[in-house]
Amino acid sequence: MFVNSEARAWTCSSAIDAKIDTFHCNLPGYSQTPLLDCSSISAELSLKNVFLKDESARMGLPAFKILGASWATYKAITKLLQLPTTVNVQTVIKGIAEKHQGLTLFAATEGNHGRAVAKMATLLGIASQIFVPQYLNKSTRDLIEKEGACVVEVLGDYNEAVVRAKDTAHELGIDGLLIQDTAFDGYEDISQWIVDGYSTMMKEADSQIYNITQTRPDVIVVPVGVGSLAQSVVTHYKSQGHPCTIIAVEPEPANCLQMSLKSDTLTSVSTEDTIMCGLNCGTVSSIAWPILQKGVDVSVYVTDAEAHESLVQLKECQAVIGPCAAATLAALKKVVRGPGLDKNAVVLLLGTEGIRDYEVPTY
Ligand SMILES: Cc1ncc(COP(=O)(O)O)c(C=O)c1O
Repeated sequence: MFVNSEARAWTCSSAIDAKIDTFHCNLPGYSQTPLLDCSSISAELSLKNVFLKDESARMGLPAFKILGASWATYKAITKLLQLPTTVNVQTVIKGIAEKHQGLTLFAATEGNHGRAVAKMATLLGIASQIFVPQYLNKSTRDLIEKEGACVVEVLGDYNEAVVRAKDTAHELGIDGLLIQDTAFDGYEDISQWIVDGYSTMMKEADSQIYNITQTRPDVIVVPVGVGSLAQSVVTHYKSQGHPCTIIAVEPEPANCLQMSLKSDTLTSVSTEDTIMCGLNCGTVSSIAWPILQKGVDVSVYVTDAEAHESLVQLKECQAVIGPCAAATLAALKKVVRGPGLDKNAVVLLLGTEGIRDYEVPTY
């Protein structure tokens, strides 16, 4: 575990586009995802409330990622077509048909982001190519293909897949649009729009929590892959004037954020297989890093077995979620039993994905 005691007092500003909520509301299949009150867990951990934001069904997909992929794709294409970000999706589709029929979306993925990009491409009537690491399982590849994408296997890990997606998009020139949920040197705008798009989840959760408790969450637990979601969470909650604790959780074999925090410099790790597939990333996004370095209060890693145990426990609270989402409870327990949390804390777990197949870890 890594604790940054200075993060509690650290604040930042947020310049989120106010049009994002309206954009999401107008997408096909949009509705607020549920907030589950996990009262048996709050009783067990002696906390005031533990809520889980259940992202198992978000616009027809079993994860939150479409919030970022949709907004970033829309922003990137309206920019290409020189349209204002007030036009509706039909106008964007018409503009593509008139000026950029060969437009193709590219992305690298561990699963959820690629599926979301593929869905957006289909919605806009354009092609998508999604690059996946060699070890990605067949059922996840099939699900990406079902959204209409061409899936390309890369001989290597997620980092390699990002490079291949970037290079292939580049070869297509102006019609090759990389929609990547991690930033690197020279590629920042679109990743920032993805981060911005995730803010809808926090806004929904805040109003749902307020309706029950008349307060804001005091502790937010966020799963971390490349850290874009955590960047969105830190930016949102550390800019609101309500002191809060952000707990970031990673899988043990992919703890690039914790390694970076410990060495105080952006550090890559080579990853191994984990049931928390969406978090299996070896490098923190370049634009997320400076924000996470200052704003993450506690960084925790969990094992596959701990994530699985928490998933089973959350099922009893009617949460039908996957291992990345359940990792948040595993991390919360470690913090409560380690440095501890205020007994009056209202805790928000970001349950980022729905249930999916995985090999149950042996103990
Ligand atoms: C289900 C799930 N949860 C959390 C994350 C973490 O998001 P990020 O990679 O932005 O840290 C991902 C990333 O793909 C994911 O698929």
